[in-house]
Amino acid sequence: MQCCTLRLLGLMLMVNVLIFVMVSVSRNSGQDKKHPAKLLVPSEKFWGPAVPSGAYWNQEQRKLDDSHNPILLVDNSSGNTLHDSVNNTASLAPCAPDLSVATKIKDYNSLPQRFKDFLMYMKCRLYPMVVDQPHICKDKPFLLLAIKSLAPHFDRRQAIRESWGRAGQMANYTVATVFLLGNATEVDYFPQLSDMLMYESSRHKDLLIWDYRDSFFNLTVKEVLFLDWFGRRCPEARFVFKGDDDVFVNTPRVLNFLNTLTPARAKDLFVGDVIMNAGPHRDKRVKYYIPESMFVGSYPPYAGGGGFLYSGDLALRLRNISRLVSLYPIDDVYTGMCLRKLGLSPVKHQGFKTFDIQEKYRENPCAYRSLMLVHSRTPQQMIRIWKWLRDPKLTCQ
Ligand SMILES: *[C@@H]1O[C@H](CO)[C@@H](O)[C@H](O)[C@H]1NC(C)=O
Ligand SMILES: *[C@@H]1O[C@H](CO)[C@@H](O)[C@H](O)[C@H]1NC(C)=O
Ligand SMILES: *[C@@H]1O[C@H](CO)[C@@H](O)[C@H](O)[C@H]1NC(C)=O
Ligand SMILES: *[C@@H]1O[C@H](CO)[C@@H](O)[C@H](O)[C@H]1NC(C)=O
Ligand SMILES: *[C@@H]1O[C@H](CO)[C@@H](O)[C@H](O)[C@H]1NC(C)=O
Ligand SMILES: *[C@@H]1O[C@H](CO)[C@@H](O)[C@H](O)[C@H]1NC(C)=O
Repeated sequence: MQCCTLRLLGLMLMVNVLIFVMVSVSRNSGQDKKHPAKLLVPSEKFWGPAVPSGAYWNQEQRKLDDSHNPILLVDNSSGNTLHDSVNNTASLAPCAPDLSVATKIKDYNSLPQRFKDFLMYMKCRLYPMVVDQPHICKDKPFLLLAIKSLAPHFDRRQAIRESWGRAGQMANYTVATVFLLGNATEVDYFPQLSDMLMYESSRHKDLLIWDYRDSFFNLTVKEVLFLDWFGRRCPEARFVFKGDDDVFVNTPRVLNFLNTLTPARAKDLFVGDVIMNAGPHRDKRVKYYIPESMFVGSYPPYAGGGGFLYSGDLALRLRNISRLVSLYPIDDVYTGMCLRKLGLSPVKHQGFKTFDIQEKYRENPCAYRSLMLVHSRTPQQMIRIWKWLRDPKLTCQ
């Protein structure tokens, strides 16, 4: 009897200790989530803990981590892991598809075609530029607007030029605008628009076109190509807005916000509509579906790809770190992964309405005054809202 009471006591003690440990661990992680800005920022590159997994992306990332791990130094031939070069992209040799993926992923043959396309070209990051604007940043813009577009979206681009994306001086700040495009769209049955694009480019001198297929799963390629271009052509821009061509941006409000930042906040700035605690969709019908054989784990905090705002300084760091992050088919999640590797977290700003505002306010000019971004708006709506905001007679409480 005596023996068992003692044993029971001992067991209870152990359980207590365990609960204590669990509570303090969860409390710590809770704090981290509440104050992402107060996280310790490592001055060196950040190495995540090993997560054993058979998923292809996780395996590739593990290899990339190992080959760049300053402690392990397993492999110093890291140059071979990526088809990558900071050299003039015009002289770039075409990147061959990686046919071995078919044998490395168990359910490869049953995956939808877009996954096969993605996996086969996962290690291809840089494509030659067809149209460049080498001098677009000669006036060292305070804000660079980089807008993801598609060849047929002529009217969206024109509406942006005539409204919130008008390049030049705005509220005494220099604003530059570029549209990011791929040119190989005929595989997706787009009509041949390259002559019209060439005319548009000579007329407005604001298109950046790369020779690759402009598909949804290649938006991460667009991100990497843009960061590379930024480092070469626009490294002195103070801030960058990157977003879609179906959003309305209240550019004067954005400039005003940027103007109020302290130098310390400005340096690491990354704001948008931040999504926390998300993970891959496993429902095949969802646009964002990712099969288990491709990725397991949760997503880092990331800012919705409709539009986010960050510093030029951070853009240069993202450009470098992106070489150490395997391409992921969802571009905003990929940017979140790069930020995490830098030891940073995007910050949520209430002014980014990527899920629109309440319907009853959509026709109210005053509803747009304090917003930074709203998704989605047609070209006509963009011009209309812009007119409302520019009206000196507009009075709001
Ligand atoms: C690093 O590379 C050199 C030359 O390619 C090679 O001789 C050496 O063994 C490598 N070191 C390691 C740790 O792999
Ligand atoms: C660019 O390429 C040239 C020739 O291919 C090479 O000599 C040079 O080192 C490269 N520059 C960089 C920064 O990789
Ligand atoms: C722009 O700068 C000029 C001269 O410095 C000043 O008079 C004007 O008020 C400024 N405009 C705005 C919108 O800040
Ligand atoms: C894209 O650009 C490349 C390089 O100029 C050209 O060879 C190719 O035909 C273009 N593709 C389309 C669909 O216009
Ligand atoms: C991405 O672009 C490359 C180059 O044009 C193409 O071969 C590949 O199929 C594209 N990937 C997807 C997922 O569309
Ligand atoms: C990016 O990498 C290049 C080449 O390694 C380096 O010279 C540069 O300082 C890096 N930039 C940043 C912002 O880390």
